[in-house]
Amino acid sequence: NVVASQIALHRRFGGVVPEIASRQHVLALPTVTAAALREAAMGWREIEGIAVTYGPGLAGPLLVGINFAMGLSLARRIPLFAVNHVEAHVLSVWLETPEPPRLPMVSLVVSGGHTELILVEGVGRYRVLGATVDDAAGEAFDKVGRLLGLPYPGGPSVEKAAGKANGTVTELPRAWLPGTYDFSFSGLKTAVLRLVQTQGKVASPEGAERLSLAEEDVASIAAGFQESVADVLTAKLARAVEDQGAGSAAIVGGVANNKCLLNVARSRLDVELRWPAPGLSTDNAAMIAGAALLNPRPADYDLDAVPSLSLS
Ligand code: KG4
Ligand code: ZN
Repeated sequence: NVVASQIALHRRFGGVVPEIASRQHVLALPTVTAAALREAAMGWREIEGIAVTYGPGLAGPLLVGINFAMGLSLARRIPLFAVNHVEAHVLSVWLETPEPPRLPMVSLVVSGGHTELILVEGVGRYRVLGATVDDAAGEAFDKVGRLLGLPYPGGPSVEKAAGKANGTVTELPRAWLPGTYDFSFSGLKTAVLRLVQTQGKVASPEGAERLSLAEEDVASIAAGFQESVADVLTAKLARAVEDQGAGSAAIVGGVANNKCLLNVARSRLDVELRWPAPGLSTDNAAMIAGAALLNPRPADYDLDAVPSLSLS
């Protein structure tokens, strides 16, 4: 499971630049593939299939991956498997544990591009109960991180800043969207923007003017933001588990790294909570291969990228 991170490259732009991401995939794929074989101490003769994600995600990087996988499949004469990126996140809790989770399971998928509550009735049997109506949870972390002047990606930076809050937590709004399993984070983001506008002082790091907050204010707002996101996500997860009579719950995707979110979820759930093993929550190749093993979908050489591919 070799991961070539592009975070350092995108940091100076404050987010992912799609064109740079595509080109970086072209550069990284051959060396990452070679490193994976080397680390696994395997040769091509032992590889019996190639799995690749074809969506959801950014069209450019998806196309680079699909074409690379097709090339390998053709050259090595081994079958190609198409994987839904969100399904791979959902199935990531099957990996590295001997016991499969108790079904039905309610899975909360929280990443930079997705926030969805999914009822998992079995491998390949999913029902989307609700989703975000605006920003994804990870996207909200990234945007709020940028507003607070923290380094990209905002998720880990906001969590770290919140850890310095010493109990002073800024109260921030929650969008409950009653009667649905849907989420909204744009109002919360705007509330943080207003605070930065009222409490911030003009600073000009490297000549670029922006509003800057005192470190303790950043910590307190970061803690309030994190609590608000965790509160809404886990309240709906817990309600879905109860309403659906689920036997277990899971939190997957990059935001599943967040300790506050996991702690609040654990305190609210009466069923077992699963989250991915280390290295399997943020995007990775092991979960793509794992999904193809658990739910193999053979693909042809006309496989195309589907940026808004859905699960149900
Ligand atoms: O699943 P992922 O690697 O990529 C997508 O499919 O989007 O998720 C990346 C997202 C980013 O928005 C990042 O800020 C967020 O996961 N993230 C976190 C944490 N670590 C990563 N959010 C909150 N707390 C964290 N510790
Ligand atoms: Zn992902």
